[in-house]
Amino acid sequence: MQRIPEPELMNEPAQVLAYAHADFAIPHQYFIDLFRDRFPDLSVKCEVLDLGCGPGDITRRFATAYPHAVLHGVDGAPNMLAEAERLNRQAQLANRIHLIEGRLPQLDLPPQHYQLVINNSLLHHLPDPFVLWDSLRRYAKPCADIFIMDLMRPASTVMAQQLVEKYAAGEPAILQQDFYHSLCAAFTPEELQVQLDEAALSGLQLEVVSDRHIIIYGSL
Ligand SMILES: C[S@@+](CC[C@H](N)C(=O)[O-])C[C@H]1O[C@@H](n2cnc3c(N)ncnc32)[C@H](O)[C@@H]1O
Repeated sequence: MQRIPEPELMNEPAQVLAYAHADFAIPHQYFIDLFRDRFPDLSVKCEVLDLGCGPGDITRRFATAYPHAVLHGVDGAPNMLAEAERLNRQAQLANRIHLIEGRLPQLDLPPQHYQLVINNSLLHHLPDPFVLWDSLRRYAKPCADIFIMDLMRPASTVMAQQLVEKYAAGEPAILQQDFYHSLCAAFTPEELQVQLDEAALSGLQLEVVSDRHIIIYGSL
């Protein structure tokens, strides 16, 4: 099926609350476990940029897994960031997670500053995926480490609906709809590989790691 883009930012109050309170423990812990496995020697004692951090569950899991890291979480949706700030304080991590409101590609961040850039589930929101690939070059150090996880688009809308039923059957309707739209808006591994080649990022590895997830990782 063709890609069906979805709205870029997630700032609707009901959508923010449903997303912030959904149980993403399995895929989000998978993100951390895969990162550890693919970068076994990294001790992460640097500032880490999390692009499209949303309500910050991945950011907090990362900060907990790497207690010497300082996280900079960026999102273009102020309501998402308000929820992230509240949850960071609740988890007593607000001193190590700094939230920055900004919409890629125009972020108020120092150029080529970050040694590590992560993001989860941002790519499929972007109308133009090169916004992300260009941002890596703009904000990461020339030899920085990169770890990205995202959804991949199934072959048909029927298969997208089957994935929603398999993984989100017990979730509120608004989350099920968001998940369906996200699957339809995601890129295929083949499309992503073409993007990486065009962006001169062929050094990054692309791997399919579940029936709905890909990771892209390596050093710039
Ligand atoms: C599906 S959520 C993922 C949130 C978080 N990374 C997670 O895994 O739970 C995608 C987030 O990216 C944000 N976003 C989308 N496009 C963006 C852009 N151009 N600049 C900054 N944030 C963006 C949305 O507002 C939303 O909070």
